[in-house]
Amino acid sequence: MSRTNPPHRRPGRRTALTAGLLAGALAMGAGALGPASAADGPGTYARVDNPYVGAQVYVNPDWSARAAAEPGGDAVADQPTAVWLDRIAAIEGTDEAMGLREHLDTALEQAGGEPIVFQVVVYDLPGRDCAALASNGELGPDEIDRYRDEFIDPIASILRDYESYENLRVATVIEIDSLPNLVTNVSGETATEACREMAANGNYVTGVSYALEQLGAIGNVYNYIDAGHYGWLGWDSNFGPSAELFHETATSNGASVDDVAGFIVNTANYGPTVEPYYSVTDTVNGTPVRQSDWVDWNQYNDNQSFALAFREKLVSLGFNSDIGMLIDTSRNGWGGPDRPTGPGPQTDVNAYVDGSRVDGRIHTGNWCNQAGAGLGERPTAAPVPGIDAYAWIKPPGESDGASEEIPNDEGKGFDQMCDPAYQGNARNQYNPSGALGDAPLSGHWFSAQFQELLANAHPPLS
Ligand code: GLC
Repeated sequence: MSRTNPPHRRPGRRTALTAGLLAGALAMGAGALGPASAADGPGTYARVDNPYVGAQVYVNPDWSARAAAEPGGDAVADQPTAVWLDRIAAIEGTDEAMGLREHLDTALEQAGGEPIVFQVVVYDLPGRDCAALASNGELGPDEIDRYRDEFIDPIASILRDYESYENLRVATVIEIDSLPNLVTNVSGETATEACREMAANGNYVTGVSYALEQLGAIGNVYNYIDAGHYGWLGWDSNFGPSAELFHETATSNGASVDDVAGFIVNTANYGPTVEPYYSVTDTVNGTPVRQSDWVDWNQYNDNQSFALAFREKLVSLGFNSDIGMLIDTSRNGWGGPDRPTGPGPQTDVNAYVDGSRVDGRIHTGNWCNQAGAGLGERPTAAPVPGIDAYAWIKPPGESDGASEEIPNDEGKGFDQMCDPAYQGNARNQYNPSGALGDAPLSGHWFSAQFQELLANAHPPLS
């Protein structure tokens, strides 16, 4: 539907009052839209097991208009993508972007009285993105009070106004990269000063647990905690400690495992959902492929196998047995002419893995605007047991980071991993970045990348 809408223009700042009236009018008008009965007070109905089942997913008109304005973009402009609350100002909205209330009202309109999932990324921790610079945020490492008072509290207060819409299911993606960074980037070769500081001051754990607790108290909110991706936490040394940190966080400062609907993997990353042509348990001439340079002793070679195993681990540590996983499939398709069509040669493990893998990156640690990437699986509810959905969380076409230094007032830094000429660091074992050139600031529209994603989509666009 939004494909035919004109590009969104924000008419002016909507006040809380108008939004409330609109929500009320919608509820009364259509009848089918609202929770109906006055007895339906906050939190009086039970959450469903998987919010994506039997529900449509909100199409963000802001993203949809940008996609539709691109040549060929119509093919995907009606796909649901997440709304990113990546700064305090995003809650109210700006001239270019709708605010949270406006999105929620639009979601109710799109729903037409049927169940709808509203996907929202909660992303503004103090000292954000401590192992990289491209998505550094507006809050300094110690500004936890502002995070609570000016970010989480206003979001929670708006969401509470929509709690009585029982057909509205709010799926939150909580603070990507933050907790995994505390596991892998505070000691040894990959450590950064900023991550050490965030580990020492505890503000990632404090912030995430606060978000879980506040948002989890709202009856129609489903919290999904970011769990990195297979090429990050798939090694034994990271897998267990991450699960433990997640459990510790979800049970501190008043949060509980009941505030957690599940976890998400591969957010804004490029790792395939499934590697169809080889398995980590394969051997070549008696040598396990785990020894290949690409796999490098990882226990997993794709995000779905990782997500399912990680789910088991999390449940074993005390998370509820009905938690579900999400996989961000927005940009992990790796189609196009270079995609293998079968297993590689059985000459040695490296030739075999490199000939088999659909992941076209130079190294699994590469994360910025990857050359050759394509759109992945279209958003799908409950694709396999244990996976709540394939979802497009990172909006395709929005940059991961600038390829050169660009002055800005968003707190964003320049990360060399976004520079195509960069030869790498300890986190990608000194490999070239694999990034596209001429990239704008993270979150800004990157037309050339969008075009590549369309061209290399897998499954291909029809
Ligand atoms: C990056 C940016 C953020 C943007 C998001 C989605 O994380 O830092 O501002 O909203 O990507 O594109």
